[in-house]
Amino acid sequence: MDKMWSGRFSSGASSLLDDFNASIMYDRKLYREDIEGSLAHAAMLCAQGILTQDELKEIQDGMAQVLIEIEDGNFEWKISDEDLHMAIEKRLTSLIGDTGKKLHTARSRNDQVAVDFRRYVLRKNREITQAIKSLMEVITEIASKNSETLLPGMTHLQHAQPINFAFHLLAYNSMFKRDIERFESSRKRNNISPLGCAALAGTPHNINREMTAQELGFSSVSVNCLDTVSDRDFALEILFNISTMMMHISRLSEELVMWSSYEFSFVELSDEYSTGSSIMPQKKNPDVPELLRGKTGRVNGNLIALLTVMKGLPLAYNKDTQEDKEGVFDSVETAEISLEILREALKTMTIKSDNMYKACKVGHLSATDLADYLVEHCDIPFREAHFITGKAVAKSEELGIDISDLEFNELHKIDNRIKEDVMQYLEIEHSMNARTSQGGTATLRTMEQVVYFENYLKNLDL
Ligand code: ARG
Repeated sequence: MDKMWSGRFSSGASSLLDDFNASIMYDRKLYREDIEGSLAHAAMLCAQGILTQDELKEIQDGMAQVLIEIEDGNFEWKISDEDLHMAIEKRLTSLIGDTGKKLHTARSRNDQVAVDFRRYVLRKNREITQAIKSLMEVITEIASKNSETLLPGMTHLQHAQPINFAFHLLAYNSMFKRDIERFESSRKRNNISPLGCAALAGTPHNINREMTAQELGFSSVSVNCLDTVSDRDFALEILFNISTMMMHISRLSEELVMWSSYEFSFVELSDEYSTGSSIMPQKKNPDVPELLRGKTGRVNGNLIALLTVMKGLPLAYNKDTQEDKEGVFDSVETAEISLEILREALKTMTIKSDNMYKACKVGHLSATDLADYLVEHCDIPFREAHFITGKAVAKSEELGIDISDLEFNELHKIDNRIKEDVMQYLEIEHSMNARTSQGGTATLRTMEQVVYFENYLKNLDL
């Protein structure tokens, strides 16, 4: 009968209930947030004349001791204490006596957990955006050196038009930039203090919510207590933001897996970030990008799990909400390690530009350029130009060569309006550099994009 809420109970809880009901095994991760929240609350109670200066001091000293015990690994986390809030308060009271029992005045675990968890999510939001930023810096750096490295641009995974490797990588930077923006907007929206909402309806005590909000780094106080103690949108947002970011990571990972196959051989992952096979000695496997692709499944699962937990809950707090934490912890930790390892794998990978170029010589990548030439220089309508180009492709196939290696006289035979100057348009490099429209792949345009991302990252204050 050592439960804090045991007043109305005549017998103790079964240990089966303890096991089922407790969150202490995982919510102890929030110990810093919980202690800071309690200290801010106590300081406010004192400022409002609800606690004396001496009592505040006792609470502060006691909490400092609790913090040391936790950080030194000497704190006793017991399932029977149910959650970290009660474990910490109980330990405080055992250290300082009755004053510890005053700490929970004008507060409930409902607003307490909302404060702790929200602050954890806001902190992780910031750390994850910083990690995305550092991934983008590596991508930008690689891009700055590869704006002339040709590779086949694809649609339907079929060779389409030549592009450069920097252009390809910067597509991912565009995605990651949007990810950062999503995290930023979520952080702004959710930077609201739940403290003082108490159980659901506020409190009759003369508290000052502005004061605790400010102390805890929140930018404002929540408007409606009933909403605040039951809202978990902030957690859903970080789950969604992580899922979207991991989806981007997964797409890039899929390309890394393909590119490191013999068939592509566009890149080679460093030994540091590759694995071997237990049976096939010759193998070097891209486990890192494969796992990144795989881990996207679990973060999506976490998002769907919490959406499902929340969908049928009446106002206000329900114990179901305790299920909010593990999935968020898991997604956050998955995102953190994923961003770090992807960054390192990219940093250390070898780019095999010769193979990328060779691949550009397969699949008639400059066919569209021939059609464009016919339109622009021979005044031939596009449909007809398309048809003539088709003939040139067929001829190349017949000769077993790429269209960029077709000789002028062959082209002239197909249509005598074609002039000798056509030859440069068939070159792969020319084809890539011809795409100078805004946002296009031409080296010139790609370098503008490099500068764009360099500036963005330089000015990004997270
Ligand atoms: N461990 C609980 C949770 O994570 C804390 C809030 C409990 N509130 C209550 N009224 N039982 O949700």
